[in-house]
Amino acid sequence: MNTLKITINPLDKRSKIRREIYSNFSEHLGRCIYDGIFVGKDSDIPNIEGYRKDVIEAFRQIKLPVLRWPGGCFADEYHWMDGIGELSVRKKMINTNWGGVVEDNSFGTHEFMRFCELVGCEPYISGNVGSGTVEELAKWVEYITFDGISPMADLRKKNGREKPWKLKYLGIGNESWGCGGNMTPEFYCDNYRRYATFCREYSGNKLFKIACGPSADDYNWTDVCMKNIGAWGMQGLSLHYYTVPTGNWEHKGSATEFSEEEYYDTISRTSYIDTLITRHSGIMDRYDPQRKVGLIVDEWGTWYDVEPGTNPGFLYQQNTMRDAIVAAINLNIFNAHSDRVFMANIAQAVNVLQAILLTEGNVTVKTPTYHVFDLYKEHQDAELIYSHVENNTAYGNIPCISHSASIAENGTVTLTLSNCSLDKEFSADIGAAFGEISTADGRILTGEVHALNTFDHPENVTIKPFGVKTENGRAAVVIPPCSVMAVTITLK
Ligand code: AHR
Repeated sequence: MNTLKITINPLDKRSKIRREIYSNFSEHLGRCIYDGIFVGKDSDIPNIEGYRKDVIEAFRQIKLPVLRWPGGCFADEYHWMDGIGELSVRKKMINTNWGGVVEDNSFGTHEFMRFCELVGCEPYISGNVGSGTVEELAKWVEYITFDGISPMADLRKKNGREKPWKLKYLGIGNESWGCGGNMTPEFYCDNYRRYATFCREYSGNKLFKIACGPSADDYNWTDVCMKNIGAWGMQGLSLHYYTVPTGNWEHKGSATEFSEEEYYDTISRTSYIDTLITRHSGIMDRYDPQRKVGLIVDEWGTWYDVEPGTNPGFLYQQNTMRDAIVAAINLNIFNAHSDRVFMANIAQAVNVLQAILLTEGNVTVKTPTYHVFDLYKEHQDAELIYSHVENNTAYGNIPCISHSASIAENGTVTLTLSNCSLDKEFSADIGAAFGEISTADGRILTGEVHALNTFDHPENVTIKPFGVKTENGRAAVVIPPCSVMAVTITLK
């Protein structure tokens, strides 16, 4: 067995891991909203006011901080006024991006904001810049947040909501370099400034405005946005990066049937997000050395070929232990960059891409990715502390063990570790610099790399308790191949 030495230093606090790093994204795409979140009050599926009960409970369990909506590409064709008022008068539209299906607008602003209330998460609304107008977005903000007499506040009241909601996160355009309008960065920035100016802060509501940032390694986009908008007018700049195992968008590879080589390619491609964040942050540092503008990784995760027999426009894919390892690596990387990464939203919440939940009829399955969010939830709002793995064996250029550690206000340390190797087991000796470990408990998610949860076997891959030995102020764990674990440590 390979041996490792892991050192944590609870005195070496780096940056706050904002809970928003553990956020999700929900788009009007396939069965994410309809079926996945919203089934309607008359459904036989257990629901609260039409929202799936099991989905609400699952989101609450992982303390979901923020949910982004209504897209994605859908956002830049969405006209929010079509989704308010009596159901019978709501306009139907074609969802041109995702399968050309009819969108009946039965899930609109009120439904989304209510869902967030039930889950206990903050809403993040992505505004239409591509095919909308400044007036339309400005009025949406007024409708949601203004507590007074105005045409939009009056309309909201007429539609049954007397008091405004709070709205913090506002995205100004999505992928404006692509599906959101195919703009140049200069043109986008000029537009951003117009939109941002007229999205007012009403009735004490503070907006956190997020500009459309780069796709993957488009460093010029970041540079232009920082130069032309910068800390003057944005609080966040988004970054989108998807992990496509083959690197070929025409043949992305199957979610469930993949070779060892494809697995390690997936891990290598997903780890590349570390380089992307480092380089985009470097550019941002030149304009914003105090790191006031957050990098908002509001779309990330694996993207495979759709499950055979499903609508290609619905992006429905299964989720295995490979996805759990991907999630663990990404979340550790976001933690490591938490001085710049203020939020991250996995794509997507239910039934789409690297979903944390899959639904079919009455049944909701928690995917291996969901369980990683559960394992990592104690990092939320804790302080990132120094952690180091000595003797970390690498597979190619990928270290087997990915790690991060944080300390909560009550002094409890959470150490998350994942082992991406498919054949190496590690025996790890954990010690605290300037301190002694008093107690340590573990929880683990492990399985054969193709292992998954199905509607017939929803508990095939789940979190198990895991023994951690403590002796002489140190802790010892065995880290199996293809595993993700969280070790909760108290110090003397
Ligand atoms: O998440 C699916 C799509 O990927 C989103 O709609 C878009 O923003 C991105 O290209």
